[in-house]
Amino acid sequence: MTVKVGVIGLGAIGERVIHKFIQHPETEVVAVCDVNEDRLTSIREKYDVETFKDYQEMLKDESISLVYLAVPPKFHHRIALDVMAAKKNLLCEKPLANSIQEAKEMVAAAEEAKIVNAINFPMVYSNVFQKFKEHIVTGNIGQVNRIEVQMHFTTWPRAWQQNDWIAGREQGGFIREVGPHYIQMMLDVFGGVQNIQSFVDYPEDPTLCEKGFISRMELQDGTTVLFSGLSGIGQKEHISFKVFGDTGTIDLTNWSVLSISEGDSTPAVLPLQRVEEIDLVGELVKAVTGKEGHLVSFRDGYEVQRVLESLLGNK
Ligand SMILES: NC(=O)c1ccc[n+]([C@@H]2O[C@H](COP(=O)([O-])OP(=O)(O)OC[C@H]3O[C@@H](n4cnc5c(N)ncnc54)[C@H](O)[C@@H]3O)[C@@H](O)[C@H]2O)c1
Repeated sequence: MTVKVGVIGLGAIGERVIHKFIQHPETEVVAVCDVNEDRLTSIREKYDVETFKDYQEMLKDESISLVYLAVPPKFHHRIALDVMAAKKNLLCEKPLANSIQEAKEMVAAAEEAKIVNAINFPMVYSNVFQKFKEHIVTGNIGQVNRIEVQMHFTTWPRAWQQNDWIAGREQGGFIREVGPHYIQMMLDVFGGVQNIQSFVDYPEDPTLCEKGFISRMELQDGTTVLFSGLSGIGQKEHISFKVFGDTGTIDLTNWSVLSISEGDSTPAVLPLQRVEEIDLVGELVKAVTGKEGHLVSFRDGYEVQRVLESLLGNK
């Protein structure tokens, strides 16, 4: 059986994930939707799919059982509620929503509609994250004493993701855009966090996103987590997720490089090429066809959103 997919939002990310659906033998992209005519024309010419400017029209296609939603964050909520009301299964981009209230309503709607709901957090499916987690949970670095996540950007936005919202305070900024990946990984490995204190540096222009932030929080057992970020600096982009144990330290750098040190040894880089070891599309197909799939649910996304909004000082 082929799972028929409709895609809403055809920006850089939407197109990236369209490829995954096209390449997978059990999914077929039957329709796509965007409010931007140029994007619609470009995607129609490349992939020969039916195109819609209004997603409500696309949702009338009863053959579509799975919708992938890749519009800017502040539109996730409205469109997701309509997709779920149409009883379609839904893969939504991260972050789940643009506020805690929206995230809460999306979880409730997904559970009421009893549809498969998932968020696209690609790191979860990668071999590097699986190895990172394995080293920590098997005690390979000993007792965890501290966690430090640092996100450093030469410029924000980055050259590859230029659009009209990514530098704005309303729904852009690197805390909202990159932060959720690291929050999700942290919750996945360590469970919940508490006592979040965060200090955000904003530029004077109230429409522009943050320049930096410093935060401290704790795992359930009181272990300290330091999470910070800075943009507009004389340094190559560098993102580090470092876990200090009492016998070893493990560092996941730039989404793909894993290094471990033991005692006072020089850190050793593990010989790993990042691949998506678990296939998100395959997991979605399993879930849509009634089997168990390895997915990050809207409920998980709500927990990520709670931490995210605390980092931004929103309750
Ligand atoms: N999972 C990841 O690794 C990852 C990485 C980067 C971004 N993202 C997320 O992906 C989403 C999209 O990001 P992007 O950089 O591609 O954004 P983008 O702004 O470049 O593209 C979004 C597209 O959605 C379209 N759109 C807006 N409103 C619409 C509507 N009502 N109906 C149909 N189309 C509509 C826009 O015209 C645009 O083409 C965001 O939520 C972002 O946070 C995820």
